[in-house]
Amino acid sequence: MIDFKQLISKEIEKATNIESEKIISYIEIPKDTNNGDYAFPCFFLAKSLKKAPQIIATEIKDKLEFDKKIINKIEVVGGYLNFFINRNLMTEQVLSKVSEQEEYGKSNLGEGKNIVIDYSSPNIAKPFHIGHLKTTVIGGALYNVYKYLGYNVIGVNHLGDYGTQFGKLIEGYKRWGDEYDLTDDPIDKLADIYKRINELCKQDEEVLNKCRENFKLLEEKDEYCVKIWNKFRELSIKEFQKIYDLLGTKFDSWNGEAFYADKTDEVIEILEKTGRLVESEGAKIIKLDDVGIDTPCIICKSNGSTIYATRDLAAIIYRAREYDFDKCIYVTSYEQNLHFKQIFEVAKLLGLDEKYTKGLEHVSYGMVRLPSGKMSTRAGNFVKIEDLLNDTINRAKEIIFEKNPNLENKDEVAKKVGIGAVIFNNLSSNRMKDEIFDINAMLNFQGETGPYIQYTYVRTKSVLEKAGYIPNLTDIVLDNLNDEYSQNIINIIYNFEDVLRQVIEKSEPSFLARYLIDLSKAYSAFYNENKIICNEKELQDARVYLTYVTNKVLRQASKLLGMEMPDKM
Ligand code: ARG
Repeated sequence: MIDFKQLISKEIEKATNIESEKIISYIEIPKDTNNGDYAFPCFFLAKSLKKAPQIIATEIKDKLEFDKKIINKIEVVGGYLNFFINRNLMTEQVLSKVSEQEEYGKSNLGEGKNIVIDYSSPNIAKPFHIGHLKTTVIGGALYNVYKYLGYNVIGVNHLGDYGTQFGKLIEGYKRWGDEYDLTDDPIDKLADIYKRINELCKQDEEVLNKCRENFKLLEEKDEYCVKIWNKFRELSIKEFQKIYDLLGTKFDSWNGEAFYADKTDEVIEILEKTGRLVESEGAKIIKLDDVGIDTPCIICKSNGSTIYATRDLAAIIYRAREYDFDKCIYVTSYEQNLHFKQIFEVAKLLGLDEKYTKGLEHVSYGMVRLPSGKMSTRAGNFVKIEDLLNDTINRAKEIIFEKNPNLENKDEVAKKVGIGAVIFNNLSSNRMKDEIFDINAMLNFQGETGPYIQYTYVRTKSVLEKAGYIPNLTDIVLDNLNDEYSQNIINIIYNFEDVLRQVIEKSEPSFLARYLIDLSKAYSAFYNENKIICNEKELQDARVYLTYVTNKVLRQASKLLGMEMPDKM
């Protein structure tokens, strides 16, 4: 496809001597198509050129030379230069590109680049909470988009499967393990054991010492302790897997914290040599106030054991060596902002190539809450995510049944709609925004929801079915798609690649979610305003064809977010 943005910026470069890369970063896509397809704001030049933006825009316009077959018209409005692309050319480009490319928008932009994405990463023997749901979905979407753009992506589930708490859990299990049947709800039961042993530790110093001893034994790979720890790990993973199966989540590596337990010595050695590791109340820490971080990073506790941060530093070294990453992305809630600021700073002391420390990126997100009163069922017993997902699927099934009682494969459709609703809900707004997990809102077919997109997709499918054929591209008379509704769809589809690039640039899958809403709305308007199946064959062909490309893009873009499309609903 012709890259219109590129083309325009190259011409402006010739007229102004400003580098086209800089220009391209300023070019906007106007919200109102009356302002053209692309706009170049000239305000930023006013100061250096000592002229009003409007005058600058006019002067640039006079110098520009364009092929009339590509750019129809250039207008100066306020301080903007507005560009109008030849509509038929745009239409032709979009239709042919979507039809000829098996997977529209796929590219090799990231060829040869390695991206590690650390996401989901729940903690063993603890509930998979609603925040973990969000990292799982955001990380999964980023994974898909990077891959689609040709990057080599390594998805890592950095399980929280190590730490002194396992010494306690082992002690609790030794004492009361027999009282619990871990075949069902093992995580709830392990959490209960953990609560009990913690209470006992507070009362009895002796018990606490036993727990410490257990952890030491675990570190030394004592057979019994490792065996029980493994059991906790396996039971937990089995529980997590139920959620991953529902969401369709996959990982390339399950190397969690325990994997790095024997790799922290190297971290300490390197840091010792820098002279920056200092003692503080028996612990070994790195002070970071010189870079504006008031809280020091603890590397070793006073009892000599390492912590979460130390294992993360070991993981950075490992990932640099093993994956030679260009970017290593961590998806967690903003509660860990400080942690990542600290370790990214300390990572600079590890003697790694700058490439690696520059490639570290924390992708944080806001909090997710259940509607009020639903936070916990019993004290300390959280709503299980698996139950929440199943509730959503069941609710979706009820809604579908009301709307379409004779639908076949109701269960399959309900699963796609319910899970699609949850996934979309997690991605639809800017990731930093706090949100509420409200099943009814996310299943609203008329709202800006996953089911609304699925519903639009199903509509395109039924139009195609009704037509009973896909016209030949060569038979399409482009003028038949000159109405504003068709053109709106064409514009949106054209911008797909741009949106994918923005998703990875800003680590913001919500751009793609927004895109899907825009495309769905544009198709709904087109559908409501235009008769598609009509008695003018030429017009019908063009509209059926536009429906066909919309259908393809809706499916492809949703898949990148992790959403599956039902054929009927
Ligand atoms: N296990 C942590 C938690 O549940 C998240 C781990 C994120 N990844 C990392 N490399 N620190 O909060």
